[in-house]
Amino acid sequence: MLVFTLCLYLWSWLSSIHGLEFRYHNSVEMEQYLKDINRTYPEITHLHSIGQSVEGRELWVLILGQHPREHRTGIPEFKYVGNMHGNEVVGRVLLLQLIDYLTSRYLKDPLVTRMLNSSRVHILPSMNPDGFESSARDCIYAVGRYNKNGVDLNRNFPDAFESNEEEREKEVRAVMDWLKTETFVLSANLHGGAVVASYPYDNSNKGSELQGGKSISPDDDVFFHLARTYSFSHTEMHNGDSCTDFVGTEFVDGITNGYHWYPLSGGMQDYNYVWAQCLELTLEISCCKFPPEKQLPGLWEANRPALLAYMQQVHLGVKGVVMDSYGKPVQNAVVEVAGRKNLCPFRTDRNGEYYRLLLPGNYTITVTYPGHKTLTQTIKVPYGPDSFSALTHNFLLQQSDKSSTVSPSPQYCTTPHLENTATGLMMNNSTPLLPSVITALTLFILQRLLQS
Ligand SMILES: *[C@@H]1O[C@H](CO)[C@@H](O)[C@H](O)[C@H]1NC(C)=O
Ligand SMILES: *[C@@H]1O[C@H](CO)[C@@H](O)[C@H](O)[C@H]1NC(C)=O
Ligand SMILES: *[C@@H]1O[C@H](CO)[C@@H](O)[C@H](O)[C@H]1NC(C)=O
Ligand SMILES: *[C@@H]1O[C@H](CO)[C@@H](O)[C@H](O)[C@H]1NC(C)=O
Ligand SMILES: [Zn+2]
Repeated sequence: MLVFTLCLYLWSWLSSIHGLEFRYHNSVEMEQYLKDINRTYPEITHLHSIGQSVEGRELWVLILGQHPREHRTGIPEFKYVGNMHGNEVVGRVLLLQLIDYLTSRYLKDPLVTRMLNSSRVHILPSMNPDGFESSARDCIYAVGRYNKNGVDLNRNFPDAFESNEEEREKEVRAVMDWLKTETFVLSANLHGGAVVASYPYDNSNKGSELQGGKSISPDDDVFFHLARTYSFSHTEMHNGDSCTDFVGTEFVDGITNGYHWYPLSGGMQDYNYVWAQCLELTLEISCCKFPPEKQLPGLWEANRPALLAYMQQVHLGVKGVVMDSYGKPVQNAVVEVAGRKNLCPFRTDRNGEYYRLLLPGNYTITVTYPGHKTLTQTIKVPYGPDSFSALTHNFLLQQSDKSSTVSPSPQYCTTPHLENTATGLMMNNSTPLLPSVITALTLFILQRLLQS
């Protein structure tokens, strides 16, 4: 026991000097590491579990920030999720390195300090610890990809474009519940098997969102900018070189629309964006899903500037509080930017706050809240990331006249899948069936092999 304790001491002493070792930490080691960090940096970290995997492993989230234990008005919430596919392990390694980097540099490195003072960063290094533990150390194949029940977690979320009423896995439910506890503004989930930044939508029902083979969201300009921020801050991603597995797939500037690459249903990024008003990218950060450990330092160096630059983008656009005529913040006020018809309108959270990632420019914003006059204002939005803050713009509502009691009708999510399942069912029988079956089969086999 004494020897064990001594070893632990020695280990933590060594790691505090040399930083976290570049190797694969199993779930027990990872938990130990996160608890050590939580104990060593109580001022700026807070460790909690958002639930358990099928096999009962905790889904640990480390929060970093000046006020790690609670949300503060004006401080945007950011998150990174790694290892959703159990055999895509580089994200998990890099997120632990990121934790090491941020904690050890706080109050020493100005960029890190400003970042943690101006935003709250949530890191879930492994969303699929069971898959990780069962993974083969292999570059391409899918052993360990799925959770313990054999389910692909990145196909198991509710989908905006088609009905997928299947049962949600424990890991997916944990993330869905997590999204209800905080209003996340920006996020990325880290995968492997390619090198590209992929952005919503991942799916389409072939409505007006489908443009030139891409499934375009109302915030496409912002997603395009976010994806390019990652790829151009990465030492290589922007070159768009495809991994050998993906010969023939070219990623201009190292980015792609998710649907344009390959359509998928039940993905996490569309879910975050459509239902949690959190803009999320899927970052593919290594050709090899489970590379030899000696490649890990190089992968960290390639991704580190990109991971940091991307976090800083949480300060894009405009943020603020919507208040009633008494100055009291109101929840569920609809805050709409002209020209952006989101499937679910963005609403103020329980603190009455809204966050809207927007590129610099002039925007007309309309705020609606029952019993109050609709408020429309045009504002000039600067580039926030440079100053580590989005523009703050509060809205003060006025009660509507008693005589005109018609309050604006509540705006619900538009659910395209309901309308479009119907048209889908009305497909003309004349459609030649065989070619599409062959195409589907080929696609299915290709995807099984190459999925990332
Ligand atoms: C994190 O550290 C605090 C003390 O600073 C402790 O109370 C808490 O239990 C720790 N959390 C975990 C999950 O170990
Ligand atoms: C960040 O916050 C800490 C703690 O409040 C403070 O001491 C420090 O001066 C701040 N630094 C910057 C760059 O904002
Ligand atoms: C935004 O509006 C201001 C006036 O408020 C105007 O000077 C400026 O040119 C506009 N910018 C753009 C990009 O339209
Ligand atoms: C089916 O074909 C008819 C007549 O050719 C056409 O009017 C209709 O729009 C088609 N429906 C679909 C779903 O393609
Ligand atoms: Zn993946």
